[in-house]
Amino acid sequence: ETGKFTYDPGFTSTASCDSALTYIDGDEGVLLHRGYPIGQLAEHSSFMEVSYLLLNGELPSSDELSQFSRTITRHTMLHEQLMTFYRGFRRDAHPMAVMCGVVGALSAFYHDSTDISDPVQRMIASHRLIAKMPTIAAMAYKYSVGQPFIYPDNSLSYTGNFLRMTFGVPAEPYVVNPVVERALDRIFILHADHEQNASTSTVRLAGSSGANPFACIAAGIACLWGPAHGGANEAALNMLREIGTPDRIPHYIARAKDKNDPFRLMGFGHRVYKNYDPRATVMQQTVREVFASLNVTDPLFETALQLEEIALNDPYFVEKKLFPNVDFYSGIILSAIGFPTAMFTALFALARTVGWVAQWNEMISDPGQKIGRPRQLYTGPAQRDYLPVDKR
Ligand code: SDX
Repeated sequence: ETGKFTYDPGFTSTASCDSALTYIDGDEGVLLHRGYPIGQLAEHSSFMEVSYLLLNGELPSSDELSQFSRTITRHTMLHEQLMTFYRGFRRDAHPMAVMCGVVGALSAFYHDSTDISDPVQRMIASHRLIAKMPTIAAMAYKYSVGQPFIYPDNSLSYTGNFLRMTFGVPAEPYVVNPVVERALDRIFILHADHEQNASTSTVRLAGSSGANPFACIAAGIACLWGPAHGGANEAALNMLREIGTPDRIPHYIARAKDKNDPFRLMGFGHRVYKNYDPRATVMQQTVREVFASLNVTDPLFETALQLEEIALNDPYFVEKKLFPNVDFYSGIILSAIGFPTAMFTALFALARTVGWVAQWNEMISDPGQKIGRPRQLYTGPAQRDYLPVDKR
């Protein structure tokens, strides 16, 4: 009656929480945000519209979307004091190290939105995080290349503003390429939320103790950085570059199957999807559209397509139900747009922030919410008595 999906009892017994945001059917390769299929949202919606949907539960009316976009736009600036925070990092610091530090520091600047008992402050903090992540990520990039920070231009779209802050320079006007803007906005949609993945669960667990939202999102950024999770998009492109030409694919397929070799096909496999990740389908399609529109090619795209083809027909991958995931093709587009691989996971964090804050709000607003406390199976020694050092 409420559109609830009946879970397999086994699954329910292991579920960590109830949530109304995102539904995944890993066997069927289905991903829904508040009931809407990811493919339809990627094709017809915008990241701002999907952000509203995740936060509020319904697609916005035109007025609601305009109001929401204005609210987010109003928070894109960063406290000037935080600019000096960047100057404490080495220029070659990984952008995710910078994002962890700067986002964690936000609670030292925005005290008026850290009282989590106040739903108004919770939503202000959520809007601030969604709005400031593009500014923070763009500044991390600018700092790494020794270029001046570019302030937000709120006459641009959310994604257009981010492109200009990243690639614009004071010396020249910056014109947002609509094809790139649309592709990147779609990539943000594909990364917005994904049920109880490792980083979202980190945000929920941190939030369950009553920690302020900025600290919780910094914890999520730290978890996302791992190569088994959000760091896979950077690792997948580095893997494709290492493979280079299609004739070298069989060697890497053999390594991925060798249990004595730690090598894994990055961008392949998933804890939940045992079918094609629907986001990877959209991502591959977006590569084709962007390349055709910009009249660019990248031999690594051909290598990726052939790697996918070979893996999907290899008995090992078929038996293990290993398919491309969201990270397999994303690096190819991000690289074509001009982002260095070190920025790929920062972009994932930028987009996933709306999912993290929506999941955090959903948990905190539940009056029955308690602190998370995972248990363990103890495998250590049975109780025993202390021995003085001269008796050991
Ligand atoms: C993301 O949870 C989410 O929703 C995450 C995410 C999100 O949006 O938040 O979707 C984003 O993190 C996507 C995943 C990105 N990571 C990668 O692409 C890294 C490469 N993938 C692997 O590290 C792996 O597939 C994981 C970590 C994603 C999942 O690992 P699991 O849980 O071990 O996968 P599994 O249990 O299904 O593995 C089954 C078998 C295992 O072998 P056996 O123990 O049965 O002998 O397949 C093997 C695995 O070793 N295997 C792989 C493989 N992935 C799994 N073998 C070779 N290459 C791979 N990529």
